[in-house]
Amino acid sequence: MSHKRSSFSGKVGFVLAAAGSAVGLGNIWRFPYLAAKYGGGIFLLVYLILAVTFGFALMTAEIALGRKTQLSAIGAFGSLNKRFSFLGYLASIVPMIILPYYSVIGGWVMKYLAGFVTGEGAAMANDAYFGAYISKTAEPIIWFLLFMGITAVIVLFDVEKGIEKVSKIMMPILVVLILVICVYTIFSMDGALDGVAYYLKPDFSKFSIMTVVAAMGQLFYSMSLAMGIMITFGSYMKKDIRIEKSVRQIELFDTGIAFLAGLMIIPAVFAFSGGDETALGQGPGLMFVTLPKVFATMPGGSVIGAAFFIMVLFAALTSAISLMETIVSIFRDKLGIGRKPACILVFGICVALGLLSCLGYSAWSTVKIIGMQFLDLFDFLSNSIIMPITAFATCIFVGYILKPKALIAELERGGPFKARTLFTVMIKYVAPIFTLLILLSSILDVFGVVKI
Ligand code: PHE
Repeated sequence: MSHKRSSFSGKVGFVLAAAGSAVGLGNIWRFPYLAAKYGGGIFLLVYLILAVTFGFALMTAEIALGRKTQLSAIGAFGSLNKRFSFLGYLASIVPMIILPYYSVIGGWVMKYLAGFVTGEGAAMANDAYFGAYISKTAEPIIWFLLFMGITAVIVLFDVEKGIEKVSKIMMPILVVLILVICVYTIFSMDGALDGVAYYLKPDFSKFSIMTVVAAMGQLFYSMSLAMGIMITFGSYMKKDIRIEKSVRQIELFDTGIAFLAGLMIIPAVFAFSGGDETALGQGPGLMFVTLPKVFATMPGGSVIGAAFFIMVLFAALTSAISLMETIVSIFRDKLGIGRKPACILVFGICVALGLLSCLGYSAWSTVKIIGMQFLDLFDFLSNSIIMPITAFATCIFVGYILKPKALIAELERGGPFKARTLFTVMIKYVAPIFTLLILLSSILDVFGVVKI
């Protein structure tokens, strides 16, 4: 990055900023619907195993790469080996694909927030409400533009620091609210305990390779991996901080919130539907369909509902800002343009792509590409195709071109690197094979060659 490289004030500053990027819709909206769909406990178990092995190794490698080179993704790979600059570009495409549809969902969150504030809570508890809302043409577009616009204005005027400060207060409140909703659902709703069992007890008969594919995609998404973001964060990190410890903390934070979000939503799905397959497998709408029903039965539910969606909105905004910030900084570096034109350009591209995702649920709902509508397609392309490729190439690069030793030196600054064997084995052997298998499975699955 050619512009000024500031650094985080200290250990806590770094962890909180990275956690602000990591904790977002991925944890609260995406994790629960995947866990519900892919068998509950078995998904949770696979996800946890992947997080402490694969996720740990990849996040550690990315942060170390950034801190070692003091550059963001494109520069970092290129400066170490010219032939690998492509990897930086590849990683940079991902935020460009994610941000537009992320903002569409951010728009859904704003709509639900507005609904609770204006006393529409009871109507939103109706099963058909969400489907009817997203199939409208104009309204979801307006909320999407609003979310995207707020993100762009924050990045344009460089006021991220203010938002981060607010979000530091919001995050603990969000955790408390999630806990309150969990306790309320589990202890007062009939059938909720079956949901707890479904979520916590792994049922091995529900395991398939797609469980792993989905869990791996979710891991990348939730921990902001394989898209250059953690490399950039690493480049801002002070040299005397232990990367290993920070990664563990970010991971704990990120996974903890995802876990609680699942515990908040899945038992509620059971309470309202008895855990029937269609309710569990409904996908992106799960949170929006289920939670208003909980709030409708809860004393003070509309206030709690409004508070909940405000917190989710902040978590989503801090993530969207980090996505947009990354893209803007790439455009500035590569095109040599200022912050303002870069912001306007990125905003324009995101609006165009985001419109596709909105219209995919309404006017263009019959348009299907490889069997998916636009939002699912973007989600699939980024999480199941480009991210595994980027992760694979990163492992090959760190494992065989740069060699793990070169990063271990960086990782040993500020103290011993305890997980060095795990790190080396993961990066050199397990992760590359795994990511390749994941990639193959998702391609085979989508083209229906083999039904996995
Ligand atoms: N990790 C964020 C989430 O869970 C999404 C995100 C991905 C943010 C990539 C920044 C970069 O919502």
